[in-house]
Amino acid sequence: MSKDNAVIKAIVERRTVRKFSSKEIPTDLLKEVLDAANHAPSGFNLQPWHFVVVKDVNLRKLLSHVAMDQIQVAEAPVTVVLVADPFAWKTSYEKILILGEAQGAINENRKKLYRRSVNLLFQVGPFGLYGLIKKIAVAVRRFYRPTPGLPATFEQCVHYVRSQTMLAAATLMIAAKGAGLESCPMEGFDEPRLKKLLKIPRRMSIPVIISLGYPLEADNSTATVRLSLDDKCNVDLFDGEKLGKL
Ligand SMILES: Cc1cc2nc3c(=O)[nH]c(=O)nc-3n(C[C@H](O)[C@H](O)[C@H](O)COP(=O)(O)O)c2cc1C
Repeated sequence: MSKDNAVIKAIVERRTVRKFSSKEIPTDLLKEVLDAANHAPSGFNLQPWHFVVVKDVNLRKLLSHVAMDQIQVAEAPVTVVLVADPFAWKTSYEKILILGEAQGAINENRKKLYRRSVNLLFQVGPFGLYGLIKKIAVAVRRFYRPTPGLPATFEQCVHYVRSQTMLAAATLMIAAKGAGLESCPMEGFDEPRLKKLLKIPRRMSIPVIISLGYPLEADNSTATVRLSLDDKCNVDLFDGEKLGKL
């Protein structure tokens, strides 16, 4: 491990912590970590996530209950609910494009390309008809030239924004570790009940919730294992040489 690299250190030393002390997270620190998560990359820079930061003690208890009574949700001072918005392309994308152009991050041509691509990506049309046409068009075009898959159903659009939101989730946990906080990611929760509790619109999707805080001194139950790079990594081909042999 590159011991001098603070980012690599935060990634390698992050553990899922399930026993938190009640110590509050300073607001500025919490904001810094959430802002870092908001810097995660996303396809077309769509940023289809929202963060609901649950701090209220009573709400945390109720949230813990819908999260299968996982105690860390009640005990950690903060649990962030990551919400994926399958309508971000309609509701907030134009603002991103305008900001991007105003700040010189994208030019007029890229703005048009992104707008067109995102419309193509997310529109499924009445009764999913446009989605069906997209599916057929992709299959036909693949005979002639490389063509990326496009979401053909609303469920596939949801899957797309959930996967982008998970990048924000990973970034959040690494930023938290770098800032001296521990985290616990969870997908063990009742999504419809959670939405009702926090007044999250039904059209949104929740891929993960993450408790944040400081660990209990007594907690030494965070050991974890990984398969080696040799099990996971090959050069050039899926079954190619192992990195170590180069
Ligand atoms: C998407 C996701 C969902 C998870 N859900 C839960 C959960 O509901 N409850 C829990 O205690 N841990 C949960 N975990 C934590 C994993 O068990 C943990 O990441 C894994 O055992 C590896 O340990 P480490 O994170 O300490 O390296 C989840 C992790 C991820 C990434």
